[in-house]
Amino acid sequence: MTSLRLAHCSDPHLHFAAPPPRLSERLSKRGLSRSSWARGRGQLQRPEILAQALADLRAQGPDHILVSGDLVNFSLPGEFEQAARWLATLGSPQALSVIPGNHDALVPVPAVQGLDHWLPWMQGDAPGADAFPYVRVRGGVALIGLSSALPTAPGLAGGRLGVAQLQRLESLLADLKAQGLCRVITLHHPPAEGVVPERKALWDRAGFRAVLARQGAELVLHGHSRDSRFDPLPGPAGLILNLGLPSVSAIPNPKDEGARWQLLEFSGAPGHWQLRVTVRAYSRALAGFETAGRYRLKLNT
Ligand SMILES: [Fe+2]
Repeated sequence: MTSLRLAHCSDPHLHFAAPPPRLSERLSKRGLSRSSWARGRGQLQRPEILAQALADLRAQGPDHILVSGDLVNFSLPGEFEQAARWLATLGSPQALSVIPGNHDALVPVPAVQGLDHWLPWMQGDAPGADAFPYVRVRGGVALIGLSSALPTAPGLAGGRLGVAQLQRLESLLADLKAQGLCRVITLHHPPAEGVVPERKALWDRAGFRAVLARQGAELVLHGHSRDSRFDPLPGPAGLILNLGLPSVSAIPNPKDEGARWQLLEFSGAPGHWQLRVTVRAYSRALAGFETAGRYRLKLNT
Protein backbone atom coordinates (compact mmCIF):
# COMPACT_ATOMS: atom_id res chain seq x y z
CA MET A 1 0.00 0.00 0.00
CA THR A 2 1.12 3.51 -0.79
CA SER A 3 0.89 6.10 1.95
CA LEU A 4 2.67 9.43 1.92
CA ARG A 5 1.79 12.95 3.07
CA LEU A 6 4.01 15.19 0.98
CA ALA A 7 4.22 18.96 1.50
CA HIS A 8 5.28 20.81 -1.65
CA CYS A 9 6.44 24.42 -1.75
CA SER A 10 8.50 26.40 -4.22
CA ASP A 11 10.49 29.54 -4.93
CA PRO A 12 11.17 30.77 -1.38
CA HIS A 13 13.67 33.36 -2.68
CA LEU A 14 15.41 33.71 0.69
CA HIS A 15 16.51 37.25 1.55
CA PHE A 16 20.27 37.65 1.92
CA ALA A 17 22.19 40.62 3.29
CA ALA A 18 24.96 41.10 0.71
CA PRO A 19 27.45 43.93 0.40
CA PRO A 20 26.75 46.25 -2.59
CA PRO A 21 28.00 44.89 -5.94
CA ARG A 22 31.38 46.08 -7.14
CA LEU A 23 31.38 48.53 -10.03
CA SER A 24 32.64 45.80 -12.38
CA GLU A 25 29.64 43.60 -11.47
CA ARG A 26 26.92 46.16 -12.05
CA LEU A 27 26.30 45.26 -15.71
CA SER A 28 26.68 41.51 -15.26
CA LYS A 29 23.62 39.28 -15.06
CA ARG A 30 24.06 39.04 -11.31
CA GLY A 31 24.40 42.84 -11.05
CA LEU A 32 21.29 43.44 -13.14
CA SER A 33 19.38 40.89 -11.08
CA ARG A 34 20.44 42.60 -7.88
CA SER A 35 19.26 45.97 -9.28
CA SER A 36 15.90 44.45 -10.15
CA TRP A 37 15.63 43.00 -6.64
CA ALA A 38 16.48 46.37 -5.07
CA ARG A 39 13.94 48.15 -7.31
CA GLY A 40 11.05 46.08 -6.08
CA ARG A 41 11.14 42.28 -6.38
CA GLY A 42 12.79 42.09 -3.00
CA GLN A 43 9.81 43.87 -1.47
CA LEU A 44 7.44 41.21 -2.84
CA GLN A 45 9.27 38.21 -1.37
CA ARG A 46 8.50 38.47 2.32
CA PRO A 47 10.42 36.59 5.04
CA GLU A 48 7.48 36.91 7.43
CA ILE A 49 5.13 35.24 4.93
CA LEU A 50 7.65 32.46 4.39
CA ALA A 51 7.88 31.93 8.15
CA GLN A 52 4.08 31.73 8.40
CA ALA A 53 3.92 29.33 5.47
CA LEU A 54 6.44 26.99 7.05
CA ALA A 55 4.68 27.09 10.41
CA ASP A 56 1.43 26.26 8.63
CA LEU A 57 3.15 23.46 6.72
CA ARG A 58 4.74 21.97 9.83
CA ALA A 59 1.39 22.06 11.63
CA GLN A 60 0.10 19.52 9.09
CA GLY A 61 2.84 17.08 10.10
CA PRO A 62 3.86 15.95 6.61
CA ASP A 63 5.97 12.82 6.16
CA HIS A 64 8.17 14.59 3.65
CA ILE A 65 8.79 18.12 2.31
CA LEU A 66 9.68 19.03 -1.25
CA VAL A 67 11.12 22.42 -2.31
CA SER A 68 11.11 22.91 -6.08
CA GLY A 69 13.82 25.51 -6.61
CA ASP A 70 14.72 29.19 -6.49
CA LEU A 71 15.89 29.06 -2.89
CA VAL A 72 18.27 31.96 -3.52
CA ASN A 73 18.27 34.99 -5.77
CA PHE A 74 21.72 35.82 -7.15
CA SER A 75 23.72 32.57 -6.74
CA LEU A 76 26.17 34.25 -4.38
CA PRO A 77 28.31 31.73 -2.44
CA GLY A 78 27.03 33.16 0.85
CA GLU A 79 23.45 32.60 -0.28
CA PHE A 80 24.08 28.87 -0.83
CA GLU A 81 25.56 28.57 2.66
CA GLN A 82 22.66 30.47 4.21
CA ALA A 83 20.15 28.35 2.29
CA ALA A 84 21.84 25.16 3.53
CA ARG A 85 21.37 26.39 7.10
CA TRP A 86 17.73 27.13 6.29
CA LEU A 87 17.26 23.64 4.84
CA ALA A 88 18.73 22.12 7.98
CA THR A 89 16.05 23.88 10.03
CA LEU A 90 13.32 22.73 7.64
CA GLY A 91 14.05 19.01 7.58
CA SER A 92 16.62 16.27 7.71
CA PRO A 93 18.00 14.96 4.40
CA GLN A 94 15.79 11.91 4.94
CA ALA A 95 12.63 14.02 5.24
CA LEU A 96 13.29 16.88 2.81
CA SER A 97 14.06 16.89 -0.91
CA VAL A 98 15.23 19.83 -3.00
CA ILE A 99 15.82 20.61 -6.65
CA PRO A 100 17.44 23.79 -8.01
CA GLY A 101 15.79 26.58 -10.02
CA ASN A 102 17.12 29.20 -12.41
CA HIS A 103 18.03 31.60 -9.58
CA ASP A 104 20.14 28.82 -8.05
CA ALA A 105 22.24 28.82 -11.24
CA LEU A 106 21.95 32.50 -12.14
CA VAL A 107 25.62 32.67 -13.10
CA PRO A 108 28.32 29.97 -13.21
CA VAL A 109 29.41 29.11 -9.66
CA PRO A 110 31.90 26.36 -8.75
CA ALA A 111 29.87 23.49 -7.33
CA VAL A 112 31.85 23.52 -4.11
CA GLN A 113 30.75 27.13 -3.51
CA GLY A 114 27.24 26.52 -4.76
CA LEU A 115 24.90 23.56 -5.10
CA ASP A 116 27.21 21.13 -3.27
CA HIS A 117 25.99 22.78 -0.07
CA TRP A 118 22.55 21.28 -0.71
CA LEU A 119 23.69 17.80 -1.76
CA PRO A 120 22.37 16.03 1.36
CA TRP A 121 18.87 17.02 0.24
CA MET A 122 19.48 16.42 -3.48
CA GLN A 123 20.92 12.89 -3.57
CA GLY A 124 19.12 9.71 -4.43
CA ASP A 125 18.79 6.74 -2.09
CA ALA A 126 21.35 4.70 -4.03
CA PRO A 127 24.91 5.30 -2.75
CA GLY A 128 26.99 7.22 -5.27
CA ALA A 129 23.98 7.87 -7.51
CA ASP A 130 24.09 10.69 -10.05
CA ALA A 131 22.69 13.94 -8.72
CA PHE A 132 20.02 14.26 -11.42
CA PRO A 133 17.71 12.66 -11.92
CA TYR A 134 17.73 11.47 -8.33
CA VAL A 135 15.25 8.97 -6.93
CA ARG A 136 14.11 8.80 -3.34
CA VAL A 137 11.45 6.28 -2.34
CA ARG A 138 9.19 7.25 0.53
CA GLY A 139 5.96 5.45 1.48
CA GLY A 140 5.65 3.69 -1.88
CA VAL A 141 6.19 6.94 -3.79
CA ALA A 142 9.28 7.43 -5.98
CA LEU A 143 10.30 11.09 -5.81
CA ILE A 144 12.23 11.86 -8.99
CA GLY A 145 14.16 15.13 -8.85
CA LEU A 146 15.29 16.83 -12.07
CA SER A 147 17.47 19.88 -12.63
CA SER A 148 16.53 22.38 -15.32
CA ALA A 149 18.82 25.01 -13.78
CA LEU A 150 21.60 26.45 -15.90
CA PRO A 151 23.27 29.85 -16.23
CA THR A 152 21.76 31.93 -19.02
CA ALA A 153 22.32 35.34 -20.60
CA PRO A 154 20.97 38.53 -18.99
CA GLY A 155 17.21 38.85 -19.47
CA LEU A 156 16.71 35.08 -19.72
CA ALA A 157 15.36 32.78 -17.02
CA GLY A 158 14.77 29.62 -18.98
CA GLY A 159 16.05 26.15 -18.32
CA ARG A 160 17.02 22.92 -19.98
CA LEU A 161 17.09 19.30 -18.83
CA GLY A 162 19.49 18.08 -21.51
CA VAL A 163 19.66 14.87 -23.50
CA ALA A 164 21.61 12.87 -20.92
CA GLN A 165 19.16 13.65 -18.11
CA LEU A 166 16.16 12.88 -20.31
CA GLN A 167 17.67 9.54 -21.33
CA ARG A 168 18.25 8.57 -17.70
CA LEU A 169 14.74 9.72 -16.84
CA GLU A 170 13.28 7.50 -19.55
CA SER A 171 14.92 4.33 -18.23
CA LEU A 172 14.17 5.27 -14.62
CA LEU A 173 10.46 5.72 -15.33
CA ALA A 174 10.29 2.24 -16.84
CA ASP A 175 12.21 0.68 -13.94
CA LEU A 176 10.14 2.41 -11.25
CA LYS A 177 6.87 1.41 -12.91
CA ALA A 178 8.06 -2.21 -12.97
CA GLN A 179 8.71 -1.90 -9.22
CA GLY A 180 5.10 -0.80 -8.65
CA LEU A 181 6.05 2.64 -7.37
CA CYS A 182 4.00 5.81 -7.73
CA ARG A 183 6.22 8.06 -9.86
CA VAL A 184 6.30 11.75 -8.94
CA ILE A 185 8.56 13.96 -11.04
CA THR A 186 9.65 17.39 -9.82
CA LEU A 187 11.30 20.05 -11.96
CA HIS A 188 11.48 23.81 -11.54
CA HIS A 189 10.30 25.04 -14.95
CA PRO A 190 6.74 24.31 -16.14
CA PRO A 191 6.75 21.59 -18.81
CA ALA A 192 3.42 22.53 -20.46
CA GLU A 193 3.20 24.80 -23.48
CA GLY A 194 2.59 28.54 -23.17
CA VAL A 195 2.72 28.78 -19.38
CA VAL A 196 5.51 31.38 -19.21
CA PRO A 197 7.14 33.59 -21.87
CA GLU A 198 9.72 31.78 -24.00
CA ARG A 199 12.62 33.59 -22.36
CA LYS A 200 11.58 31.98 -19.04
CA ALA A 201 10.53 28.59 -20.41
CA LEU A 202 11.87 25.06 -20.28
CA TRP A 203 13.54 25.04 -23.67
CA ASP A 204 13.50 21.28 -24.14
CA ARG A 205 9.98 20.81 -22.79
CA ALA A 206 8.94 18.95 -25.97
CA GLY A 207 11.63 16.34 -25.26
CA PHE A 208 10.46 15.99 -21.66
CA ARG A 209 6.84 15.59 -22.77
CA ALA A 210 7.90 12.97 -25.33
CA VAL A 211 9.49 10.91 -22.55
CA LEU A 212 6.32 11.24 -20.49
CA ALA A 213 4.15 10.25 -23.44
CA ARG A 214 6.16 7.04 -23.85
CA GLN A 215 6.82 6.05 -20.22
CA GLY A 216 4.13 7.83 -18.21
CA ALA A 217 4.33 9.16 -14.67
CA GLU A 218 1.69 9.52 -12.00
CA LEU A 219 2.30 13.19 -11.16
CA VAL A 220 4.50 16.12 -12.24
CA LEU A 221 5.21 19.06 -9.91
CA HIS A 222 6.86 22.39 -10.71
CA GLY A 223 7.37 25.98 -9.55
CA HIS A 224 8.64 29.10 -11.37
CA SER A 225 5.34 30.27 -12.86
CA ARG A 226 4.23 32.68 -10.12
CA ASP A 227 0.68 31.30 -10.21
CA SER A 228 -1.10 28.03 -9.38
CA ARG A 229 -1.18 25.74 -12.39
CA PHE A 230 -2.97 22.60 -13.50
CA ASP A 231 -1.78 21.74 -17.00
CA PRO A 232 -2.27 18.00 -17.66
CA LEU A 233 0.24 16.36 -20.00
CA PRO A 234 -0.34 13.45 -22.40
CA GLY A 235 0.71 10.03 -21.11
CA PRO A 236 0.35 6.48 -22.42
CA ALA A 237 -2.71 5.82 -20.22
CA GLY A 238 -4.43 9.21 -20.39
CA LEU A 239 -3.60 12.62 -19.01
CA ILE A 240 -0.84 13.01 -16.41
CA LEU A 241 -1.48 15.46 -13.61
CA ASN A 242 0.90 18.40 -13.68
CA LEU A 243 0.58 20.84 -10.78
CA GLY A 244 2.50 24.09 -10.33
CA LEU A 245 2.85 26.47 -7.44
CA PRO A 246 3.72 30.16 -7.10
CA SER A 247 6.34 31.38 -4.67
CA VAL A 248 5.78 30.32 -1.06
CA SER A 249 6.92 33.74 0.16
CA ALA A 250 5.27 36.23 -2.26
CA ILE A 251 2.82 38.81 -1.06
CA PRO A 252 -0.14 38.95 -3.50
CA ASN A 253 0.63 41.54 -6.20
CA PRO A 254 -0.15 42.06 -9.90
CA LYS A 255 2.64 39.65 -10.93
CA ASP A 256 2.32 37.03 -8.18
CA GLU A 257 -0.77 35.14 -7.16
CA GLY A 258 0.57 35.20 -3.64
CA ALA A 259 2.12 32.60 -1.39
CA ARG A 260 0.82 29.05 -1.57
CA TRP A 261 1.93 25.56 -0.66
CA GLN A 262 0.16 22.25 -1.11
CA LEU A 263 -0.27 19.06 0.86
CA LEU A 264 -0.35 15.97 -1.36
CA GLU A 265 -1.68 12.83 0.30
CA PHE A 266 -1.04 9.64 -1.67
CA SER A 267 -2.93 6.43 -1.00
CA GLY A 268 -3.98 3.24 -2.75
CA ALA A 269 -2.01 0.56 -4.52
CA PRO A 270 -0.25 0.22 -7.86
CA GLY A 271 -2.67 1.01 -10.66
CA HIS A 272 -5.22 2.43 -8.23
CA TRP A 273 -3.54 5.42 -6.67
CA GLN A 274 -5.51 8.28 -5.23
CA LEU A 275 -4.27 11.77 -4.47
CA ARG A 276 -5.87 14.21 -2.10
CA VAL A 277 -4.67 17.79 -2.63
CA THR A 278 -5.06 20.57 -0.09
CA VAL A 279 -3.92 24.00 -1.25
CA ARG A 280 -3.04 26.47 1.48
CA ALA A 281 -2.89 30.13 0.42
CA TYR A 282 -1.84 33.36 2.09
CA SER A 283 -4.75 35.68 2.84
CA ARG A 284 -4.13 39.41 3.27
CA ALA A 285 -7.36 39.66 5.28
CA LEU A 286 -6.24 36.97 7.70
CA ALA A 287 -2.56 37.87 7.48
CA GLY A 288 -2.15 34.12 7.51
CA PHE A 289 -2.80 30.94 5.57
CA GLU A 290 -6.15 29.35 4.78
CA THR A 291 -7.38 26.45 2.67
CA ALA A 292 -7.93 27.66 -0.89
CA GLY A 293 -8.96 24.30 -2.30
CA ARG A 294 -9.25 20.64 -1.47
CA TYR A 295 -9.89 17.92 -4.00
CA ARG A 296 -9.40 14.22 -4.67
CA LEU A 297 -7.82 13.01 -7.84
CA LYS A 298 -7.38 9.59 -9.39
CA LEU A 299 -3.90 9.11 -10.76
CA ASN A 300 -3.62 7.61 -14.25
CA THR A 301 -0.91 5.00 -14.62
FE1 LIG B 1 12.32 30.36 -11.30
